[in-house]
Amino acid sequence: MYVAIMGYGVVGSGVAEVLAKNHHSITKKSMQSELELKYILDIRDFPGDPNEKLMIKDFNIILNDDDVKVVVETMGGLHPAFEFVSACLKAGKSVVSSNKELVAAKGDELLKIAEEKNVNFLFEASVGGGIPIIRPLSQCLAANEIYEIYGILNGTTNFILTKMINEGLDFATVLRMAQENGYAEKDPTADIEGHDACRKICILASLIYGKHVYPDWVHTEGITKIDLADVEYAKNWGGVIKLIACAKEVDGEKLYAVVSPALVANTSQLSSVDDVFNAILVKGDATGDVVFYGRGAGKLPTASAIVADVIDCCRHTKEKKFFGWESCNENFVIDYLDAETSLYIRAKAEHPEDAVAEIQKTFGNVTLLSRKDAPAGEIAFVTDTDTERALRTKLDTLHILEPLSVLRIANC
Ligand code: HSE
Repeated sequence: MYVAIMGYGVVGSGVAEVLAKNHHSITKKSMQSELELKYILDIRDFPGDPNEKLMIKDFNIILNDDDVKVVVETMGGLHPAFEFVSACLKAGKSVVSSNKELVAAKGDELLKIAEEKNVNFLFEASVGGGIPIIRPLSQCLAANEIYEIYGILNGTTNFILTKMINEGLDFATVLRMAQENGYAEKDPTADIEGHDACRKICILASLIYGKHVYPDWVHTEGITKIDLADVEYAKNWGGVIKLIACAKEVDGEKLYAVVSPALVANTSQLSSVDDVFNAILVKGDATGDVVFYGRGAGKLPTASAIVADVIDCCRHTKEKKFFGWESCNENFVIDYLDAETSLYIRAKAEHPEDAVAEIQKTFGNVTLLSRKDAPAGEIAFVTDTDTERALRTKLDTLHILEPLSVLRIANC
């Protein structure tokens, strides 16, 4: 059986490397007499690369070659990835993709084409890099009602937060390190503004709840405004700040989904997930908590998930693996302000003692936080639980202080 790769960046070249390195065992596991990489599509030149002779620049060569049965898409971005992937599926080729932007935006359409054409569209690598999560959710945990899922789903931001917290390094330096390691997206805005984690929680939520959750429906905040003062207060509160993606069922028929930096208590299993590692905490009604942990980004971990999907495609040429979700409309996802949470608030006040009295009068029970060498007038506290709308309305009435930072407390 012949395979083609579209996109020879960090991940695509990792796929070629793994296919070559473990060629014998992969071929055996794929239950084919031979499994060969035939083409690599990329607009760039790679002089001296061991795969140079496989390089092509014309997509139609792959599309029109009937011997190519499995196509790996590691191009990233929506266009032309969407056009290429849908053309391959329509031509009767199975497609394996690591492209979370594509799956989050067009998953329902592509899964439908795959079903109509009786081919596979698999995307294990699109969430959690090398961590198995798509298959466990759709197969191993299928007996459960999954009522909540929390994830640290972006390796770059977790790497940045860990280095800032543990080594006191500044944001720009650590971002550069993440780029050098091949963790960050081409445009790292997608990482640091939370869009990448948003796409991933959309894929997981779509899979769990059977309805396509589009990224535009999910309230998303990034980590660029996190200050070392917040890190210190979080520590004194008994936790850490993590970029948390969360989705939970509301009243059995709606969904709450948010991506934002949040305070995570040290008692949570997610609090100790550091560096480029990702973790996903799944709460099922039969299993209770299940945690998936591993390298969420990087060349070989991601390639590992892709090649496993290629093997699966090769093994399922007659009986296709159908899993997926339906299209749905926006009111499936509730307004995040209507959900209950508690908030961490750091603020500045000219008269701190009066401000604390006002805070207690307005919010009732709050936990006041302190830190060493806090500048005069700085106040930090954690509220009790209420709807986010009620908490923010109360905060808006407190003219005696100027909020500097507002973060959710993740109940994971
Ligand atoms: N930029 C992504 C991350 C790559 O840092 O997690 C893996 O999807």
